[in-house]
Amino acid sequence: MKTIICKDYDEMSKKAAEIITKQVKEKPDSVLGLATGSTPIGLYKCLIEEHKENGLDFSKVKTVNLDEYVGLGEKDDQSYIYFMRDNLFNHINIKKENTHVPESNKEDLKLDTEKYNKLLDDIGTRDIQVLGIGVNGHIAFNEPDDKLNLRTSIVDLTEETIEVNSRFFEKKEDVPTKAISMGLEDIFDAKCIILLANGKSKKEAIDKILNGKFVDTNFPASLLHLHPNVVLIVDEEAYNG
Ligand code: PGA
Repeated sequence: MKTIICKDYDEMSKKAAEIITKQVKEKPDSVLGLATGSTPIGLYKCLIEEHKENGLDFSKVKTVNLDEYVGLGEKDDQSYIYFMRDNLFNHINIKKENTHVPESNKEDLKLDTEKYNKLLDDIGTRDIQVLGIGVNGHIAFNEPDDKLNLRTSIVDLTEETIEVNSRFFEKKEDVPTKAISMGLEDIFDAKCIILLANGKSKKEAIDKILNGKFVDTNFPASLLHLHPNVVLIVDEEAYNG
């Protein structure tokens, strides 16, 4: 795992944006795996700036997202599809039909996962997958457990994740308890994975990745050691605490 230590959140975001910008310039029909959460917002701002100021062209780019809450519609401002439109898609020249966020409206959960797995199979290996990390080491919504899913599945969120994510909702009871999430095999199906982490709250998790010489399904991010091309971009707070 290659590690890039940045002085702060802005530098981390810029560094990640540089890698993605280079990728899209070199291969205009790149396939990007994208993530939600507070971490990649700065990266998306930089990409919007690249598009608006330097004409970075997303017209042939395809995107797939990692996960989505179960039961929140696209109009709900806490849904990840809403987040992606609001923080990126609506501000660049990407075609709506080239953007993909898993959908799950509670009616037929099995069908929702089958549909997304088929989509991932059709789209093939991503050029880059952007990842954040939970304080408990989750990647996408693969929560610590004795076994982890290989493919897109419906997952129960842990109490800790519900608590952490409640900051985005009016009250904790509003946080969905289930999500649809890519599995580990899906996440790994990318030529390069960019793992982003900033802030003190991520220090423990980053320390475990960098200094723990193990893989453990109860700390899902540790499995990233098994991927041949992971770039960890961290700010000093997440690195030093
Ligand atoms: P965050 O979430 O970017 O909001 O910290 C990351 C994650 O839970 O994967």
